[in-house]
Amino acid sequence: MSLDGKHALITGSSRGIGRGIALKLAASGVKVAIHYFQNEAAAKDTLGQVRKRGSDGLVIQADVRRPEQIIAMFGKVQAEFGKLDIFVSNARTDLPTFYQKPLEITPEQWDMAMDSQAKAFLLGAREAASLMSDEGRVIAITYSPGGRTGSWQPWVAMGSAKAALDSLVRYFAVALAPRRITVNGISPGGVFGPPNVVEGGVLRALPQDIQDATRAWHEGGWTPMRRLGTPEDIGNAVTLLCMEEAGFITGQIIHVDGGASIMDTVFPLEIQLG
Ligand SMILES: NC(=O)c1ccc[n+]([C@@H]2O[C@H](COP(=O)([O-])OP(=O)(O)OC[C@H]3O[C@@H](n4cnc5c(N)ncnc54)[C@H](OP(=O)(O)O)[C@@H]3O)[C@@H](O)[C@H]2O)c1
Repeated sequence: MSLDGKHALITGSSRGIGRGIALKLAASGVKVAIHYFQNEAAAKDTLGQVRKRGSDGLVIQADVRRPEQIIAMFGKVQAEFGKLDIFVSNARTDLPTFYQKPLEITPEQWDMAMDSQAKAFLLGAREAASLMSDEGRVIAITYSPGGRTGSWQPWVAMGSAKAALDSLVRYFAVALAPRRITVNGISPGGVFGPPNVVEGGVLRALPQDIQDATRAWHEGGWTPMRRLGTPEDIGNAVTLLCMEEAGFITGQIIHVDGGASIMDTVFPLEIQLG
């Protein structure tokens, strides 16, 4: 599938899922602005891999919690690319900055999650729309179960922030529909990339026994396709949404999780799988 001549900005594409999205779009001919926060070397490595796929791009630094840095990031995209066709809001602050239970979380940890997700998307989608021609694509990488359930206690801030993000997707879909710009969310399930923290996504930062238990859980059937997702799976889904043929899909949260989100937690797995 070719998206030749398109230009994309992907926040948090120095590593993990964002890198997977950047490489898939690059393979389809998209020029990519690779955004990072602290890890410049990883962002440059992503750019090198983009070039190996026959495309090109640039590297941009910004803290997406800071409105003035978001505006400066889009200014640099405009200066280098002159236009924007695809904006993917993917960056998420690192686990230790927000990971705390409801009775213990500090206002700073709460703000860290809300600002890096909801506020960053609010401002980013607005800036993106001002650079986009009609028929652009805005995509938020979310985690919808975190906003619907209450079980993963230290996820309270990020779950709430992702719920706000999902809501913003719908509001922006309506706001930008007259220009035929689509706005959608992609909700991955558990995603493991290669066995290193840079490419593997946040789950690779967890202790090995937790990684092993998580993998066994999904391979045991709680993901009907019996495997965890990869950054490439999410990159493929983003690429599909960027196709011309996806132009009437808007305001949706699409689960890209091998079916994990359609399992029923009320009944034991053996009963469900028969
Ligand atoms: N991994 C999963 O299983 C999973 C599941 C569902 C949804 N998701 C969602 O997918 C997205 C990517 O997750 P991931 O696990 O691939 O992430 P990751 O590997 O932890 O990478 C996080 C990215 O965000 C950037 N970042 C961190 N703090 C930032 C800040 N303050 N301002 C700007 N950028 C910042 C990082 O830049 P540096 O490299 O410069 O630090 C990095 O590029 C997130 O929105 C996450 O919620 C992930």
